[in-house]
Amino acid sequence: MSTSVIVPAAGSGTRLGENTPKAFVDLAGRTILARTVDAVQSSDRIDLDRIVVVVPDELTERTRAELSGSACPIDVIVGGAERTDSVRAGLARATGEYVLVHDAARPFTPAAVFERVVGALRAGHRAVVPGLPVVDTLKRVDGDRRVLQTVDRSVLRAIQTPQGFHADALAQAYAATDDVATDDAGLAERAGIDVHVVDGDPDAFKITTPWDLRLARAIAKGWD
Ligand code: CTP
Ligand code: MG
Repeated sequence: MSTSVIVPAAGSGTRLGENTPKAFVDLAGRTILARTVDAVQSSDRIDLDRIVVVVPDELTERTRAELSGSACPIDVIVGGAERTDSVRAGLARATGEYVLVHDAARPFTPAAVFERVVGALRAGHRAVVPGLPVVDTLKRVDGDRRVLQTVDRSVLRAIQTPQGFHADALAQAYAATDDVATDDAGLAERAGIDVHVVDGDPDAFKITTPWDLRLARAIAKGWD
């Protein structure tokens, strides 16, 4: 079954605090986005139709130039104020039976994670997310930093991307609401679509904070 991948890359990276929008920050000689677009194409077991890269308005031409050597067709389009707006813009360009949404900020995501997500779509799940067990102890606190409760972590998963959908399911989820969500499966859940969790991978971590960028730069040096 053919698959499109939407790569939302239109965020500013407020928590990272660099001068450049996060996806365009350098990691040992290549941007985070360029490395992520490579990762999206790293499996030869996925029939990729196209990659839809969603970027800030002023960076479309630069992105087209930087990604012009890609083997897979790439559409570069302009995103919106919230991640949900950017994915919605990408969705209008998606083709094929399956649509994956993969954060530009996860450049080291292994091919195996893409394959697990698509494998579960092929098995009939309409919405699939990769997730990891939570390792830290979790506590609920109040506004005065008082601990109210220790939460049972055994039933919790930290959810990553790529998140995969039968195309009609993602369209249904986005058509059902104008709300925003931190991930696409969140909208699917609200639309009553069952979401299935496959194993994620620590390498699929999202670059969010300055510490994550230090880690990513160390990994990138040993990666090429
Ligand atoms: N994203 C997007 N459009 C937005 C906001 C986010 O395409 N309006 C993308 C980001 O570029 C990133 C992914 O969604 O690849 C995950 O979002 P996040 O890690 O929150 O990135 P930012 O929103 O850029 O970071 P921050 O929240 O710290 O500002
Ligand atoms: Mg954000």
